[in-house]
Amino acid sequence: MIDLHTHILFDIDDGAESIEDSLAILSRAEKRGITKAVVTPHFTLGDDVESFLKKRKERTEQLKEELSKNNISIELCEGAEVYITDEIYNETRLKELTIGTSGVMLSEFKYHSLKIDKFLDYIEEILFNNVKVLIAHPERYTYLYGRERLIDMLINRGVRFQVNAISLYEEGEAGDFARMMVTSGRAFAVGSDIHHARSKRLDAMAEFNKSEKWRRLLWDNPSKIFTGEVN
Ligand SMILES: [Fe+2]
Repeated sequence: MIDLHTHILFDIDDGAESIEDSLAILSRAEKRGITKAVVTPHFTLGDDVESFLKKRKERTEQLKEELSKNNISIELCEGAEVYITDEIYNETRLKELTIGTSGVMLSEFKYHSLKIDKFLDYIEEILFNNVKVLIAHPERYTYLYGRERLIDMLINRGVRFQVNAISLYEEGEAGDFARMMVTSGRAFAVGSDIHHARSKRLDAMAEFNKSEKWRRLLWDNPSKIFTGEVN
């Protein structure tokens, strides 16, 4: 599987704290069938892009070396989970925050009480910067519940949605929304959003991967990000 959403990079956000933590997560991820993972540390717009990129590169290179020493064969790619704030209107380096060289940005928004108009305006601003939008865990945004027509309009504009695997096994509105996104064909990808080795999030990925039916969301679509087939 290709995991487009992870916090496996150490000492950079609220995910892995040490390189040992990173290796513990990746070792479990390999056993559960992950073959490629994008490191997507949290980045809040308004923070310094340069220092974030420098730190991410250093950590990723260190981690790649450790992976090969430990015979863990997961390919890493650099990305970020970008929290969208009003700084979107000032930030000129969005392209550098996208996944690899894809121009696709994993984008996170306020979970509740974001006005729909504001949400849409943020998305327009990202697109205006010639950056493609992959919305992280839409099931967390309560203002999207019951808004299938709006979601379809966004999909028609080229916006894509990444659902967290663990959400698919949860009860309640978030779980219902996540399942609706997958079964209706609105989700582009399912990712882990893994932060800690002990979490059940990788198990959820492995469980979801059992059905050939969902291959598109774990393998085919995520791979398109790297082959430039996402337009
Ligand atoms: Fe995340």
